[in-house]
Amino acid sequence: MTITTCVFDAYGTLFDVNAAARAVAAEPGQEAFAAVWQEVSTHWRAKQLQYTWIRALTGQHTDFWQVTQDGLDWALEKTGQGDPDLREKLLGLYFNLAAFPEVPAMLAALKAAGMNTAILSNGSPPMLKGAVDSAGVGDVLDDILSVETVGIFKPDASVYKLVTDRFGCDKDEVLFVSSNGWDAASARAFGFRVLWVNRAGEPLDRLPDAPDRIASDLTTVPQIAEAL
Ligand code: LAC
Repeated sequence: MTITTCVFDAYGTLFDVNAAARAVAAEPGQEAFAAVWQEVSTHWRAKQLQYTWIRALTGQHTDFWQVTQDGLDWALEKTGQGDPDLREKLLGLYFNLAAFPEVPAMLAALKAAGMNTAILSNGSPPMLKGAVDSAGVGDVLDDILSVETVGIFKPDASVYKLVTDRFGCDKDEVLFVSSNGWDAASARAFGFRVLWVNRAGEPLDRLPDAPDRIASDLTTVPQIAEAL
């Protein structure tokens, strides 16, 4: 079926999850942090995601801003970074996280082609609004769908169902775009058409459902949506 609706994961896909730590590492006076920023950022993201999966499986939901702070606290302790100002600085930047450079033009092209466009994210509504506003892409998104509506994180099926409920469309009219292999596989299992954005050249996840398409960034999303 023709694609009518393009839906994007937020963190890692539209917004660069390494941007906050990278920006702090580049500041004058942050030489000690600059030596460990990549380790901090990798641990931060890994723990943040692990906590979402554990909380979903154990029925202990909290919002993504809380697990983002919890993941950061673990990463800072692990790497011996105890400065409370550093913590606040990283969280402030994460709240207004930078988008990848191709995002505004890509979303504008989808809207010009008549597609529905939306974000579907674990993010809480305030943090998603912060990132969308700082990227200036609010006017090329029809909606920002958050797991807070259903009170459980991805990859619970009730999250992906928010899209078909919102747009009144069939699952196979949706192109779901994610840089997270586990999210891409889970969205495919739900029944969406899926594009996995593999910026880092990672191996394909060993999960039951493979993406329909793989790209190295977001520039070709309009062409892929048109061709599927
Ligand atoms: C999100 C996480 C998975 O935005 O990055 O939903």
